[in-house]
Amino acid sequence: MGTISLINNETNEKFDFNIINCTRGPKAVDFSKLFETAGIFSYDPGYGSTAGCESTISYIDGKKGELLYKGHKVEELVAKYKFTDVCKLLINEELPKDEKESKEFDLELRHRSFLHEGLINLFSAFPDGAHPMATLSSGVSVLSTLYFDHKDMEDEDDYQTMARRIIAKIPTMVAFCYRNSVGAPFIYPDIQRSYVENFLYMLRAYPHGKLKQTIKGTEEITSLEIEALDKIFTLHADHGQNASTTTVRNVASTGVHPYAAIAAGISALWGPAHGGANEKVLKQLNEIGDVKNVDKFIDRAKDKNDPFRLMGFGHRVYKNYDPRAKVLKNLKDELDKKGIRMDHHLSEIAQKVEEVALSDEYFIERNLYPNVDFYSGIILTALKIPTQLFTPIFVIGRMPGWCAQLLEHIKNPHARITRPRQVYLGK
Ligand code: SDX
Repeated sequence: MGTISLINNETNEKFDFNIINCTRGPKAVDFSKLFETAGIFSYDPGYGSTAGCESTISYIDGKKGELLYKGHKVEELVAKYKFTDVCKLLINEELPKDEKESKEFDLELRHRSFLHEGLINLFSAFPDGAHPMATLSSGVSVLSTLYFDHKDMEDEDDYQTMARRIIAKIPTMVAFCYRNSVGAPFIYPDIQRSYVENFLYMLRAYPHGKLKQTIKGTEEITSLEIEALDKIFTLHADHGQNASTTTVRNVASTGVHPYAAIAAGISALWGPAHGGANEKVLKQLNEIGDVKNVDKFIDRAKDKNDPFRLMGFGHRVYKNYDPRAKVLKNLKDELDKKGIRMDHHLSEIAQKVEEVALSDEYFIERNLYPNVDFYSGIILTALKIPTQLFTPIFVIGRMPGWCAQLLEHIKNPHARITRPRQVYLGK
C-alpha cells in the first residue's frame, strides 16, 4: 500500500499516511489518525475533497459525466429495466433474473403500498397548501412509531422488510400529501396497477376510482406516461454521497430508527441547492418568460453581487454534462414526438439558456453544465404533475438509494457516529 508524507514545516515533523486503494476513481489518503498522529485537523468545509465512507453502491465519474449503479451504467438501466427492478438491484444487490421475478417484486411492493389509517389523520392535520416535502418528512418520521419492528439492520430479513415497506409506501404518501394540499379526497392504491401506474392513479382518480373525471382534467393513464415516469424515478435512484444521502448516513450513525434517518434525508433534499432545484427551475423558466430575456438572466447568474443562480446548472461532482440531464433532454424530445406535448415555450427557453451558458466563458471555466434538475420539470409538467410534487418525486426515486446507503453505513465496521471537528476562531 502506498503512503503520502506530510511535513509540518513549523515543527519539521514528517508523518506518513497510507493511501487507500479503490476500484474506480481517485484514491484516498487515510487521515483517520491525523489528529492522534500529528495533533492537527484537516479542514475541508463542504467536504469537496473528503471521503466520509467507503461505498459500493453508485459511482460518479465527474470528468466523463458517467453514473453507475452497482456497476451498471444508468443509461442501460433506464433503457432496459423498470424502476422496481433497479430498486431490487440497490437493496439486494441484483437485478431480477427474469420477468417472473420482476413481476413478483413489483406485486410485493403493491401489497405493501397501503398506509396505516393513523397516518391519514396526520396528513389531514396539515393546512391546505402545505408543501408536500414538509408533510412527507413528518409522515416518514411517524412511520418509525407505526413500525417499531423490523428495525434491526444487522438482520437481512428485517432490512429487506424495512426497505421494501418504505419504497412501497412513499408513492402513496406523496399522493396523499398532494390530495390533502388541494383538499381532495384520498385515493387508496389499486393493486391491479403497477407501481408507477398506481402513483399516477392515486394522484388523478376520483373517489369512485374511475379516471373519467380527474382533478387535472386528464384522461386514462397511458403506458407512455408510465414509462416516462418510471425512467425519471430510475434516474434519481442513487447518487453517491450527496447532501441528503450524507444526512441519512449521519443520522443513521447515531443508532436511530431507519425511518427517522430517512425523514432527515427528505428535509435535506428539499433545499433549492439540492433536490428542491427541479421546482425552482420551472419557476425560473417562467420568470425568464421569453428567449429574448435569456442573456439578461445569464448576466445576473454571473454577477457576484446578485444572489441569482441558474437553477438546474452546476454540480459539485460533475464537471461535464450530467448523464441524467442528457437522458432527460432526449426523453423530453422523444415524448413530445410520441404525443406527450411538452410546453414548447418553456422548452425553447431552457434550450436557449443551455446554449448561451455553455458558450459563455464564466460557465465554461467553472465547468457548469445542466444537471438532473434542468429538464426534469418540463417533462413532469407534461405528465400533469403539479410543480410542488417535483421534489417529492425525487424522494420516490431516491428511496432505494437511501435504504442501501443507510444499511451500508451501519454494517461498515469502520463506521462510527459521525462527529466532525472544527477550526475554532472564537474567544
Ligand atoms: C442535485 O451532490 C449531488 O449528487 C446532488 C444531486 C443528487 O442526485 O443527489 O445531483 C442532485 O442536488 C443537483 C444540483 C441541484 N442544484 C442546483 O441546480 C442549484 C444551482 N446550482 C448551484 O447552487 C451549485 O452549482 C451547486 C449547489 C449544485 C454546487 O455548488 P458547489 O459545488 O458548492 O459549487 P460552488 O457554489 O462552489 O460554485 C463554484 C463556482 C462559484 O463561482 P466562483 O466563486 O468560483 O466565482 O461556480 C459558480 C459559483 O458562484 N456557480 C454558479 C452556479 N453554480 C455554481 N453560478 C451561477 N449559477 C449556478 N447554478
